[in-house]
Amino acid sequence: MNKPTITVIGSINMDLVTVAARFPNQGETILGERFLTTPGGKGANQAVAAARLGANVRMIGAVGDDAFGQELIRSLQNEGVSVNSVKPVTHEHTGIASITISERDNRIIVVPGANHALTPEDLDPYESVIAESDVCLLQLEIPLPVVERVVSIAHRHGVRVIVNPAPAQPLPLVVLEQASFLTPNEHERGILFDKMDEESFVDQLIVTEGAKGVRIWQDGQERLIPSFHVPVVDTTGAGDTFNGALAVALAEGKPLHETCRFANAAAALSVTKLGAQAGMPRREEVESFLAEQERSQ
Ligand code: RIB
Repeated sequence: MNKPTITVIGSINMDLVTVAARFPNQGETILGERFLTTPGGKGANQAVAAARLGANVRMIGAVGDDAFGQELIRSLQNEGVSVNSVKPVTHEHTGIASITISERDNRIIVVPGANHALTPEDLDPYESVIAESDVCLLQLEIPLPVVERVVSIAHRHGVRVIVNPAPAQPLPLVVLEQASFLTPNEHERGILFDKMDEESFVDQLIVTEGAKGVRIWQDGQERLIPSFHVPVVDTTGAGDTFNGALAVALAEGKPLHETCRFANAAAALSVTKLGAQAGMPRREEVESFLAEQERSQ
């Protein structure tokens, strides 16, 4: 099978991760147990997830002219992600995410920095790249006009585009209409369809519901594709692994329920290690995990 070509347009962050026994209360200082800096950003995470699962991946994004920016570019290159469309920005720092991990969950503050310096015009040189992609993948840590531009280019060229509406914000109607798939979690689903009629979009909806699984609608039928239960170390990046895997399996032509099962398996494996990208599995790991699940049924 030919390797699918996936273009990810999105954020590139350095994650500043603190592990603590519990979350501090307001106004309280506590001692943490561990600290690490590790590559993240929803865009970069999804790019790495897709690359590890066997796709040719190109990243379009922006980093600052600083040590984090250089480190993140190197790390994407080491993953085999093509980075010559990552814009260096001099007037902004590289995006960072301050992440606290505790109680088998996380709390995240993102400071977008260079990610917000990306403009719709930056996409102009990459129209043919988008047109030649099997699937484009977008999230909402970059400016909304950029998201709108990519969705409209992909739509014009008949390229499937997945919009992962995270962090949550309402989207313009045209984005909802032109996206091939929307992948909110339950919270994001509420914000996306607060003032919009969800009914007209259910065929495009893939709702991630954490430990429960993934909800899809096919031929008027609602269906839950259950998730896999594994020991949880860190859920950061699980949604990104799901989206990266979804893009790969869709590009390979798998049917939707099989695509979601594949992506559920990749996401499950990703939570077994600390760090957004550290636990992201390679193709063989997902395949042997799925085979083992079949055997134990
Ligand atoms: O989805 C997880 C990601 O969200 C983290 O890597 C962090 O950078 C934030 O963008």
